[in-house]
Amino acid sequence: MKIAVIGPGALGSLFAAYLSRTSGNEIFLLDHDRNRAAGLGNKLLLIDDGQEFTCSLTITAEAEKIGPAGLVFLCVKASDVAAALKPARPLISPRTLLIPLENGISHLDLSPACDMAIGVTAQGATLLEPGRVRHGGNGLTRIGFLRPSSAEAENKLLNAAGLLNSAGLTTKTSTDIVNHIWAKLLVNVGINALTAIYDCPNGELLQKPARSQMLAAVKEGELVARARGINLDNDPQALALQVCRDTAANISSMLQDVRRGRPTEIAAINGALLTEGRRLNIPMPVNEELVRKVLALSSPSIQEI
Ligand code: PAF
Repeated sequence: MKIAVIGPGALGSLFAAYLSRTSGNEIFLLDHDRNRAAGLGNKLLLIDDGQEFTCSLTITAEAEKIGPAGLVFLCVKASDVAAALKPARPLISPRTLLIPLENGISHLDLSPACDMAIGVTAQGATLLEPGRVRHGGNGLTRIGFLRPSSAEAENKLLNAAGLLNSAGLTTKTSTDIVNHIWAKLLVNVGINALTAIYDCPNGELLQKPARSQMLAAVKEGELVARARGINLDNDPQALALQVCRDTAANISSMLQDVRRGRPTEIAAINGALLTEGRRLNIPMPVNEELVRKVLALSSPSIQEI
């Protein structure tokens, strides 16, 4: 099958690298930056458990050269989704299954011209430099439809899960993906901003005083989720602690953004929660402070929430 990954960031490179090790598939990584795509020379270096693997695949900025793909993973920042999907249109046909894997909740409103399942992943990935990705922990990926779907779409979903599992990316299909999206949002609410503020890998949040700040931020998010009728199967605070342990060496996506001077996803994560909290009249002092502090770390051009 032809499989395309959009976005050569940490998660996109990790997925593309792992998928390139499956047999019988053609793997493409779509990068909007023509020069960078050419410079990567159709290779990704995957660093896993201290070992290095060179992965061969096609890396290009030209979606027309890829053409319609059976499976497309969208792995760009929440704020870049619209800009990434427009030039990626040649990848999409009615036979495609699109799986966005963004943090936050803004991508749930997309309506592409193909079936779309949402992906939620706890995989840890750090982009050391373009084309060089370190796997920071094998967290579970869940994929599922937001609404009831056709038998054909369900088949595509099962195939996608089988493929990811055969690539070594542990994946389950889900019939209540919206609850997992919120569970992941609360993990990101707890981990991402604080790792950016403390400039530390995820595992260091298990120590004081970050630990109690993380738990308080997640608790506020849990109140919002429950007020919205979201069914959280696992204790969100326990889950945030577990992800810190599972991805201890990982540099969170938000800290990677701050270190590179790029816009962060603070608006899509803690900011999205503040919006919901205000709507529901739930005070969120801890998340307000996290948003303020991360905005202060970022470039002045980044807008207020
Ligand atoms: O955004 C991230 O970095 C990841 O979602 C996670 C799970 C927090 C691991 O670093």
